[in-house]
Amino acid sequence: MATAITPETMIPEAIKAHPQLRGILDQYGLKGCGGEFGPAESMEFFAKTHGVDSARLLTELNAAVENPKLAPAVDYKPSLADSIYRRFFLGAIGVTFTAGALWGVILLWQIAFAGRFTALPINEINAHGHSQIYGWVGLVIMGYAYQAFPRFKHGALWRPSLAALSFVLMLMGIALRVVGEYFAVSIHQGTILLSPLWFGLGMLGSCLELMAALLFVLVMVKTYRTIGKPLETYDKWVFAAVGWFVVGIIGDAFLYYATATAPDRGALVSAVAAYQLPLRQVQLYGLATMMILGVSLRFMPPVFGFADPGEKLYRRMFWPLILGVAASSALFVVMFKTGEFLRVGLAYYAATLLIVVPCLWISLSFRPFGKVTGNDRSIKFIRASHFWFMLSMVMLALEPWYNRLTSQTFSHAYHGAMMHALTVGFISMSILGVGAKVVANLCGEDTARLSRLWLVFLLINTGTALRVGNQVLTDFVPASFNLLGLSGLLILAALLLWALHILIIMYRPRQAAHAMNIESVTIAPQARVGLVLQRWPHTLDVFVKHGFGLLKNPVFRNTLARNVTLQQACEFQKVDLLRLMDDLNEATRERSSAPAQAHSCASLDPGLTVAEAARRYPVTVPVFSELQLDACCGGADTIANAVEHHGLKLDEVMSRLNQAIAKAHS
Ligand code: HEM
Repeated sequence: MATAITPETMIPEAIKAHPQLRGILDQYGLKGCGGEFGPAESMEFFAKTHGVDSARLLTELNAAVENPKLAPAVDYKPSLADSIYRRFFLGAIGVTFTAGALWGVILLWQIAFAGRFTALPINEINAHGHSQIYGWVGLVIMGYAYQAFPRFKHGALWRPSLAALSFVLMLMGIALRVVGEYFAVSIHQGTILLSPLWFGLGMLGSCLELMAALLFVLVMVKTYRTIGKPLETYDKWVFAAVGWFVVGIIGDAFLYYATATAPDRGALVSAVAAYQLPLRQVQLYGLATMMILGVSLRFMPPVFGFADPGEKLYRRMFWPLILGVAASSALFVVMFKTGEFLRVGLAYYAATLLIVVPCLWISLSFRPFGKVTGNDRSIKFIRASHFWFMLSMVMLALEPWYNRLTSQTFSHAYHGAMMHALTVGFISMSILGVGAKVVANLCGEDTARLSRLWLVFLLINTGTALRVGNQVLTDFVPASFNLLGLSGLLILAALLLWALHILIIMYRPRQAAHAMNIESVTIAPQARVGLVLQRWPHTLDVFVKHGFGLLKNPVFRNTLARNVTLQQACEFQKVDLLRLMDDLNEATRERSSAPAQAHSCASLDPGLTVAEAARRYPVTVPVFSELQLDACCGGADTIANAVEHHGLKLDEVMSRLNQAIAKAHS
């Protein structure tokens, strides 16, 4: 057997040379990924990320290179799901450069000028925190989940239109909630005044967010159910994170209600003191950390070459971490409500360690600072994100001791520093690293040819170091406030450069179909109508004869027709694909010195599923029934496989099927 396809072969090269291979790669979840010719990644990389045995994939691909009929028909149709992540990433960038990080920078400068953390109204801090958690982190998580998880399972997203609806709801929810929270409460001569209109709008925002999160759960559950593959360990982490997503939104709405309707300053402070920290535990450790760690198990070893911590460790750490998040949140509230700061406080601390230990253990197991096999630009972001993750975990474990040593009940400086080591250092740095890899891949770009993003890396790490270090130092050296504002600007600049890079990759016009070598166009179901016409202009008559009169219009030929395959055009116009291909082959054979690929009427593809063949050629149904092939896997298996299962001879079966088709056409 030929070995045209090796582990190093790049997907676009393979698809350009052998378009039929797309059918095999689609089966393993390629679908619309990377555009027309797929992502700029090697076959080995594809096999690893999509969880396919590399040797088996290569055998299938090489067999299909030798005999194109062995490849399943390319049944890919462009869909909303192909690049569903884009709107979510765009939304996340939009939120972070308005109510998110940008507002955070303004708040930080205000703190720096005032020289104290309590200088800001809580509703402003919370509006910033809320938009960062749901706008920046939440939208990225949703977009990534919709885009990647179905492909990891070799399936398709269930109802992409509902996924798109969840985006609209979430974005509208965040906008209403942030604006509502900002304007709902004002303090006039020491009295808290509530504006029912703004408060109501904020609550409406929370309801929309909840609807978006529930829709997200529905689409993900249905997608997994439809694909029907058993849940892997990382899936359980993902679903746990999705569960915390919903709990966090409900908790956030409750905190908003409690703070906005507090009758006086005392009640407001005690609502914040009792509920704010538990809410952040749910959002940051339940939602963000569990999601990132879950994805890391699936992504970090195969894609970046980090050590594999193993499923066993993840299984062992799953329930302790969930218990840690749930118990620490609940105990913190109990501690405040009962005033039992010692007994309940100790239990709270023990529950916090249930978060710290699994997180540190898992993070160390990836050996993030050891040698890795890959050389991707994102690796440095992942390493740094784990550094900040470990630091934030150590800070979490040491928080009570720090407070004791500095004789404080609560240190805003220490707590805020720890929070931003996690939110900027770990969570945002993970988004930057994984985003830079994933977006480039999905857009068919080779990351080796793109910027290494060193400036982004240096800016965000310097900014985070300044933020975390200086914020703690403000407890001892008031002059440290001066550098805090600068730290925000550095982080913002890093996010801005990264966002511009990502937006350019997502939206720049790329090498399109017409850039491919026109000589390599063949008459095949997946050939683009516009390209067939470009190579053989005289085939216009054939198309017109088959009812494609619109193609007489040159604008139509050069625009839409370039993006529509023969198969799609025939399905749309209800035209017999094989008849059209026959006529096209005849026309091109007559004119061309090189023999065109013949697809005679009587050449049914054995790579088609039984059901698809029966749908396209109803005359084959009696033959399938007689040979009992229609009962095989409910028609979902390919003809070739079904024939093999039944111990029949493929040549004979194909000959009978083709005869039936030919007879019907004659
Ligand atoms: C340019 C980057 C950022 C700046 C300048 C910034 C600034 C601030 C400031 C000044 C505060 C109030 C004081 C404090 O708690 O330290 C704050 C709070 C907060 N920030 Fe940020 N932030 C940034 C990025 C982020 C990111 C990326 C996230 C989430 C992913 C985030 C989540 C939060 C949360 C949840 C709070 C509320 C803290 C609490 O509940 O105590 N921030 N931020």
